[in-house]
Amino acid sequence: MFSSLFSVFSALLLGLSYLVNAAPVKPTELLAFAPTITSPTAGVVWPAGSKQNVTWATNNVPPEAHNYTLVVLLGFFANHSENLDIKHPLATQVPIMQGSVIVTLPPNATYGTNYTIVVIGDSGDASPAFTITNSN
Ligand SMILES: *[C@@H]1O[C@H](CO)[C@@H](O)[C@H](O)[C@H]1NC(C)=O
Ligand SMILES: *[C@@H]1O[C@H](CO)[C@@H](O)[C@H](O)[C@H]1NC(C)=O
Ligand SMILES: *[C@@H]1O[C@H](CO)[C@@H](O)[C@H](O)[C@H]1NC(C)=O
Ligand SMILES: *[C@@H]1O[C@H](CO)[C@@H](O)[C@H](O)[C@H]1NC(C)=O
Ligand SMILES: *[C@@H]1O[C@H](CO)[C@@H](O)[C@H](O)[C@H]1NC(C)=O
Repeated sequence: MFSSLFSVFSALLLGLSYLVNAAPVKPTELLAFAPTITSPTAGVVWPAGSKQNVTWATNNVPPEAHNYTLVVLLGFFANHSENLDIKHPLATQVPIMQGSVIVTLPPNATYGTNYTIVVIGDSGDASPAFTITNSN
């Protein structure tokens, strides 16, 4: 599980940029907590444009965070960055205790083996690298 300080730090910065940009999502900022992503797992192959189930653990969410809502973002690891597509979130306003959300991958995503899904509340967790293949 990719959960370096860098990851958390960048997620925090992104959270802030969400607020600054007045995006439709306003995570309640009470406590730093990063959901633990359980899908996608490392090396999974998902086709562009497909619907997929992104999942995370709920058994380690502290009670103070039970009302948090999450944003799910697609990114790719390159140049020591997660290169998150914050302009096109895969999902927003997802209740953290739901533990999963079905997302539709961008139909125009290009082939790449270094994609990541990041789930952000007031903090975030990046999944391991997975692959998106061309839809046809
Ligand atoms: C997504 O996965 C979770 C965890 O396995 C499961 O509980 C949920 O029903 C799945 N959602 C759908 C729509 O299949
Ligand atoms: C979560 O929301 C419910 C319903 O609005 C509220 O009763 C509860 O106190 C909230 N819990 C926390 C930890 O904020
Ligand atoms: C994929 O990510 C790894 C680890 O961050 C990096 O070393 C590698 O250069 C990346 N590959 C591409 C094609 O960006
Ligand atoms: C990675 O860095 C190289 C060299 O600066 C640059 O050419 C390339 O576009 C960068 N890739 C991404 C995905 O930012
Ligand atoms: C995919 O399409 C969206 C919406 O038209 C666009 O904003 C985005 O830049 C495109 N992504 C790629 C990788 O072409």
